[in-house]
Amino acid sequence: MIDHFRFMAPLYDAVLGRPGVDWWKKVLRLPVSGWVLDVGGGTGRVSAALPDLAAGVAVCDVSRPMLARTQYKNGIRPIQAPAEALPFPDAVFHRALVVDALHHFRDQRRAISELARVLAPGGRLVVEEPDIGLVVVRAVALMERLALMGSRFHPPETIAGMMAAAGLRPRIERRAQFRAWISGDKDDVNSLSDGE
Ligand SMILES: C[S@@+](CC[C@H](N)C(=O)[O-])C[C@H]1O[C@@H](n2cnc3c(N)ncnc32)[C@H](O)[C@@H]1O
Repeated sequence: MIDHFRFMAPLYDAVLGRPGVDWWKKVLRLPVSGWVLDVGGGTGRVSAALPDLAAGVAVCDVSRPMLARTQYKNGIRPIQAPAEALPFPDAVFHRALVVDALHHFRDQRRAISELARVLAPGGRLVVEEPDIGLVVVRAVALMERLALMGSRFHPPETIAGMMAAAGLRPRIERRAQFRAWISGDKDDVNSLSDGE
């Protein structure tokens, strides 16, 4: 299978720019005492801003050239693995994020179920995806199809449904700048009082 990101890796951060840390702090509910997992995290462009806000940050991706760029960033642990088979035990991460990557995953439902599995009770997953409800994003989706990238975009409601099916409590947090953010909380049953 072609790794399209192999060719993009050297320029990826420069072209995409840095994300807004304040937003990620808010939506991921940071700081946190445990670890953060960034799946499809590529060069660590987004998670590079997070190490001071957690015990550690792991970036998981299938592309070796993308992961190689994490070496320029402090505090990130790169792991080469597919989202559909995360090489971690259950319930070890307190937060997880997937930024602009879900549509590239071959089996998105399985990936979300894996993310739910490795999340600790009380943990939160946040998925950022282009909002396919918008015409401009549909044009990008068409270009990615023509480039044989195998991308499959879903509306935020469908992604929320995948999270619910994986046992997370989903919520569409925000739609802005052609993107949508969907969170999924893993309830901590021990912290619920009787009758809840
Ligand atoms: C558009 S890039 C986004 C990178 C990063 N999240 C960011 O926003 O800077 C998508 C990433 O998903 C990765 N990817 C594609 N399929 C994957 C899979 N099945 N498991 C893990 N990563 C995957 C690609 O290698 C690529 O690095």
